[in-house]
This record gives sequence, C-alpha cells and structure tokens, in this order.
Amino acid sequence: MRVLVTGSAGMLASDLIPVLTKRGYEVFAPPEDMLDITLLETVRSVAQSCEPDMVVNCAAFTRVDEAENEEYQALMVNGFAVQNLCLVCQELEIPLVHFSTDYIFDGTKDEPYTIYDQPNPLGAYGRTKLLGEKYVLWLLNKFYLVRTTWMFGTYGKNFIDTMLEIAQKQQKISVVNDQRGCPTWTRQLAEAVADLIDTGRYGVYHITSSEPTTWFNFAGEIFRLAGLDIELVPVTSDQFPTPARRPLNSVLDPFPLPQVLGREMPSWRVGLKEHLKQAGKLAAK
Ligand SMILES: NC(=O)c1ccc[n+]([C@@H]2O[C@H](COP(=O)([O-])OP(=O)(O)OC[C@H]3O[C@@H](n4cnc5c(N)ncnc54)[C@H](OP(=O)(O)O)[C@@H]3O)[C@@H](O)[C@H]2O)c1
Repeated sequence: MRVLVTGSAGMLASDLIPVLTKRGYEVFAPPEDMLDITLLETVRSVAQSCEPDMVVNCAAFTRVDEAENEEYQALMVNGFAVQNLCLVCQELEIPLVHFSTDYIFDGTKDEPYTIYDQPNPLGAYGRTKLLGEKYVLWLLNKFYLVRTTWMFGTYGKNFIDTMLEIAQKQQKISVVNDQRGCPTWTRQLAEAVADLIDTGRYGVYHITSSEPTTWFNFAGEIFRLAGLDIELVPVTSDQFPTPARRPLNSVLDPFPLPQVLGREMPSWRVGLKEHLKQAGKLAAK
C-alpha cells in the first residue's frame, strides 16, 4: 500500500513515517516546500504522480499561542488546506487520515470528552482545527479523524524539553496544576494509528495515552525519572496566563478505540520513561 504523508518534518510525522515503513507501507513524504497543503494544484499533482492508496495529514499550524494573532494563517493550514486534501482524496477515491486535538473542546465538562460531545473551542487554534474536522466530516466517507492530546516526541519541542531546560537554570519551578490531560508519546500514537489503519474501520477516534494527570504531576515524574531535585510549585492557569486559553479538562474518552483494536493504550508513564531513555536523560537507578 502506498501512503502520501504531509507535514513530513513535524513531530508526529517523524515517528509515523518509520512505523508505517516498517510495516511494509511504501511511504511518500515530500518536504513542505514540495507539498504545501494550502495549494490545491500542488496537492493534486503530487498525489497524481505518486498514486497513493491513502493520504496521512500530519501538516498543521500548531503554535497555539501564535495562532491567537495569526488566526488567518492557522486557518489556511488547519482549515482550508484540509478541504484541499479531502477534494484530492475524493478524486482518487482514497481515505484520509487526519489529526485533531482536544482544543476543539472548551474543557468545562467534568467527565472525559467522548466522540459524541459538542466542540466549543476556547481559542483560535481550536477554531481552525475544528474547521479542518468539519471538512473531513462534510466531504469524505472514508477517513480516520484522530484526536489526540499533549503530545511529546523525539523530533519536536515539547513540555519535557521545556522542563529540563528550565531545570538547568532554576531549582524552583511553578507548573500549572488545574489542567488535566493525557501526555501522549508520538511513537505509541504512531503504532496505534498504524494498527487502526490495518483494521479498515473508518471513523472518529480519540487516541491518547491512558491515566489522566496534570502538567504539575507530569513535571514531577519527569524530574523524578531524570534524577533531578527540583522544587515544584503548583499554580492555577489564572496565575500562569498565556495568549491562548487552554481547556481545563483535556481528557478524551477512548471509545471506540479499545473495542476496535482489542487493546487499551498504555499509560503516559511508559512513553515518558522510554522517551527519556532514548534521549539519554533517564537517571541510572
Ligand atoms: N503537538 C501536540 O501536542 C498536539 C496535540 C493534539 C493534536 N495535535 C495534532 O497532531 C498533528 C501533528 O502535530 P505535530 O505536533 O506533529 O505538529 P508539528 O510538529 O508542528 O508538525 C507539523 C508540520 O506541518 C508543517 N506545515 C505547516 N504548514 C504546512 C503547509 N502549508 N504544508 C505542509 N506542511 C506544513 C510544519 O512546518 P513548520 O514547522 O515549518 O510550520 C511542521 O513541519 C496536528 O494535526 C496537530 O494539530 C498535536
């Protein structure tokens, strides 16, 4: 099976491409300057030349705070460009794998968000991602629309790197403790997406690690595993204002993923440990 991957230099794509390749997929992953998804004719001609059986869209405008001032640019990539991908998938009669986010929800629900819950984004990034979702739902029958959360991986700037960087300069660090979510290792997400593709069961999916936590508790485990003695101070989101408001509840209910794959996603602790080990940051026991 031939797969065309967009956004090939991104954090998720960097793990998904080798996972798909290892499973025998023939992967075409042009760099952004050869496959700018905002250009319909470019998407069409690249797709026509490599004749994929599936498109996997890892391209996105993911700078959540910058999106507040650059909503149009974010909309072009996260919204309108998804329409381009859908049109080309329609023309070639092939499925699209598309990624979305917990930021489409407002985070006011007490329980985990299910695939049936109504989106209500708090900020620009979430609004633009929601438009992308709508194009997938409006235009395609064959798609995997995968929402995920709090990603970390080897090939992108993430919360773990930020914490370890700050720890080099400070012994005391304040971390938000009123946002709940599931940190998700890109490698485990990539494996689950590949498993899902193998099933042929199209639909909307929530794929995150299990065991919800807060940024504060996540930071605590990062420092514990890295063997760093850091004083952590829990703060509220109000005490730590950012240009974009984040949902307080980012926990996504995994239904129907476990039923479809026949397994649960692992805890974020497994991915964190492996990630630190691969980065050479895991403290020796
Ligand atoms: N990161 C998270 O915590 C998180 C959480 C939930 C959901 N997601 C979703 O997961 C998906 C993958 O995220 P990620 O963290 O891997 O993103 P990422 O690291 O920012 O990668 C996205 C890639 O897309 C590229 N890109 C931007 N505009 C493009 C265009 N017009 N055409 C082609 N490529 C373009 C980016 O290039 P530049 O870097 O040059 O802009 C970047 O290489 C996204 O849909 C994101 O919304 C991410």
